[in-house]
Amino acid sequence: MKKSKMWGGRFAAGPADIMERINASIEFDQRLFKQDIACSKAHVKMLLDQCIISGDDGSKILNGLDQILVEIETGKLQFQVELEDIHLNIESRLKELIGDAAGRLHTARSRNDQVATDFRLWVRDTVDQLDLQLRDLQAALIAQGESHFDTLLPGLTHLQPAQPITFGHHMLAYVEMLGRDRSRLSDCRKRLNECPLGSAALAGTSFPVDRNATALLLGFDRPMLNSLDAVSARDFAAEFLSVAAITAVNLSRFAEEIVLWASPQFGFVELSDSFSTGSSIMPQKRNPDAAELARGKTGRILGALQALLVVIKGLPLAYAKDLQEDKEPVFDAADSLTLVIAALTGMLGDMKINKDAMVAALEEGFPTATDLADWLVRELDLPFRDAHHVTGVLVRSAEIKGCGLADLSLSEMQKVEKRINDSVFSVLSFEASAASRTSFGGTAPQLVCEALAAAKERYL
Ligand code: ARG
Repeated sequence: MKKSKMWGGRFAAGPADIMERINASIEFDQRLFKQDIACSKAHVKMLLDQCIISGDDGSKILNGLDQILVEIETGKLQFQVELEDIHLNIESRLKELIGDAAGRLHTARSRNDQVATDFRLWVRDTVDQLDLQLRDLQAALIAQGESHFDTLLPGLTHLQPAQPITFGHHMLAYVEMLGRDRSRLSDCRKRLNECPLGSAALAGTSFPVDRNATALLLGFDRPMLNSLDAVSARDFAAEFLSVAAITAVNLSRFAEEIVLWASPQFGFVELSDSFSTGSSIMPQKRNPDAAELARGKTGRILGALQALLVVIKGLPLAYAKDLQEDKEPVFDAADSLTLVIAALTGMLGDMKINKDAMVAALEEGFPTATDLADWLVRELDLPFRDAHHVTGVLVRSAEIKGCGLADLSLSEMQKVEKRINDSVFSVLSFEASAASRTSFGGTAPQLVCEALAAAKERYL
């Protein structure tokens, strides 16, 4: 059995094949290569400045790391499972390229602070990329909202017709949700942006390292204060996954609405050919698969959060190899979320809105009943509860007659409440109903116009 060339000194024999397999993370942590090289370069620069290594060794290492970056980016470096992880693969390649000087890279450092640093950098990059993607999705929502700021559709509660609303208002609801997701991402970024590097294995190092310098070089706000915490904390990753989970749930609600709206029963929207799929047996089908998958992938993103929290739950300080299990859930959730946001953005961009179907839907379910009750309160000074009762009776009459509230005659209305007069009809149209909702944050087209402009200012 071959011994590990990176840490095999005190071993008489090498690891069993199965040990090698359970121990290796290179298959997935190779995704950290950019961050790992950035982290190593910052460390070497600091070692140089602190005169912990010689200028000659330092520049050999820096050049070697640059070359390895290119080799990995161009697919020239073959990773080896025997070398366990991305850190040892890179260090081993460095040895091949520059010889013994490579051995000085790991001075005053451990893989424990190294991986903690790399992973924070990776999550930070991902947070930044997701923020841009969410911004693009907000832009797509705002664009649809602008085209349809006054398009009316039934607003629902309990999935039942409630009151007329504007499509622009509905789009803006999601703009706000995504705005909070972005603000959660930004909070998470602030808390994770502290640097573990220089904490070494767990206790710090006896070399005169400058942790402020490496933190600064890597764009962190400051070094982490406690070395035990620095190497073992993964709450930054759990926080990222919590934010990802909430975002995924928000997006899943949007996806669910698209699925409903695209169904023939609603018919509110038509997805473009590029964002619909056919059925292998039913030729008539246009399925909203991307929206369904956006909804479905929420499952694995929530699962990732659960998986990581359970990994961390029972661990004593400081590092334990369990922590190697932190990466796959984060990578998988980040990939899924990236895909979901991109798909929803594309789908929304060329989605057609069917105004006629929305108006037809307004004809069902008496969505101006509240307007009628409010009119009875305002004009006849009925207590709201009485107005509610009178309106209920009128709804019942319209239901029996098979017509809308506005189609009842004045005399039919007066049979229920004799003081009702002609002006009641002015509040029974869908347009009038929506236009009257002018309270702060309401659905009136005029307010929606202003809110769209404000949202562009705030988010784009
Ligand atoms: N591949 C390891 C991980 O992801 C790197 C840290 C290894 N540290 C150790 N003490 N064996 O956690």
